[in-house]
Amino acid sequence: MKRLSFIFGTRPEAIKLAPLILKFKEKTNFEVNVCITAQHREMLDQVLEIFEIQPDVDLNLMQPNQTLSSLTARVINSIDEYLDNYKPDIVFVQGDTTTVFAVSLVAFYKKIKIAHVEAGLRTWNKYSPFPEEINRVLTSKVADFHFAPTELSKENLLKENIDKKNIYVTGNTVIDALFIAREKVERNFPAIPGISPEVFKNSTRNILITGHRRENFGKGFEQICKAIHNLAVEFEDVNFIYPVHLNPKVQEPVKRLLSGRKNIILIQPLSYLPFIGLMTKADIILTDSGGVQEEAPSLGKPVLVMRENTERPEAVTAGTVKLVGTDTQTIFDNVKLLLTDNAAYDKMSNAVNPYGDGYASERIVGIINES
Ligand code: UD1
Ligand code: UDP
Repeated sequence: MKRLSFIFGTRPEAIKLAPLILKFKEKTNFEVNVCITAQHREMLDQVLEIFEIQPDVDLNLMQPNQTLSSLTARVINSIDEYLDNYKPDIVFVQGDTTTVFAVSLVAFYKKIKIAHVEAGLRTWNKYSPFPEEINRVLTSKVADFHFAPTELSKENLLKENIDKKNIYVTGNTVIDALFIAREKVERNFPAIPGISPEVFKNSTRNILITGHRRENFGKGFEQICKAIHNLAVEFEDVNFIYPVHLNPKVQEPVKRLLSGRKNIILIQPLSYLPFIGLMTKADIILTDSGGVQEEAPSLGKPVLVMRENTERPEAVTAGTVKLVGTDTQTIFDNVKLLLTDNAAYDKMSNAVNPYGDGYASERIVGIINES
């Protein structure tokens, strides 16, 4: 029986690994062990609860305002011990966080096979997204199975001379998770903590906002918040709903610059089902998130991405995602265009699904089964 370890630490890793863990657990020829670094705490626990996943090992590593180096050191030390105790045949990691890079490094030291889910995303810019671009480049160097979501991500890996026999185009498991969530949301629309159901009963338009990228800390967030404030003043009949990421470097400027206006609704990060519910109710999404860029196009929602570049260009090419950077006036003008020009809005609101068909997990299970 193959022993599989799923090791992850943050909200998006949990969302994207949950469908895969559940699929592997259905099989009798694998022993599945779930180890969380808990690089995130509350935001990770919210996801585990929704998917009813009980970690076998919880390293509980998050510290308030943690630095990259201190977190990396804590993950390396704890995972070293975990891998010595559990001795898996294959370690699964997902994406590009500190947890992913540090776990991959330790698994490599121990010559344990590494399966990288969502491999091959690249901007080719060392500092954007920071530190994620380098986390994924380094993880690709040591991984044995590269599960690329799209043909483009496969091409990126080939450019780095990754052996093509180890690259598998599977689609992104984020769409598997989204389909599970959407079905539940459609069957029973969840309450959205912090938002009265009345908000969705009238014809008011809603803009959903998320943001947390390190490269936007400081000036970027100041400019983003000014744009949201100016939009809220100009469009008093539009709601700006913002579940604010728990990182203190995000909380501080957002609360300072955006509190106190009736049509700006600042709420706690939402659990996954309410968040998908809120996405379905949104008219426009303004974000710097990776996962949201992948989910929103399948829901037919126009997405304005507050970044200078993206490792997910497929939906930009399809026309439902547009990069607007962090300049106050550029964000303002692009949101205003979508609020005032129906043709521009309709052009961006087609449902497209370049990131997957909901069967990525099934493909990955099949590949590991035959390996
Ligand atoms: C991390 C990942 C980023 C990913 C993002 C998803 C790294 C370097 N960054 O960024 O790639 O896109 O998660 O959201 O791996 N905090 C809490 N509770 C939580 C989560 C965070 O209080 O549940 C606060 C803590 O003060 C923590 C801080 O946020 O120290 C930063 O968390 P961290 O995981 O280091 O960075 P993120 O910005 O969340
Ligand atoms: N998400 C959530 N609650 C929120 C905001 C986002 O469940 O309040 C989900 C979202 O649907 C997506 C994922 O979290 O699947 C994205 O996480 P995040 O933006 O933190 O990280 P990134 O994808 O940028 O790494």
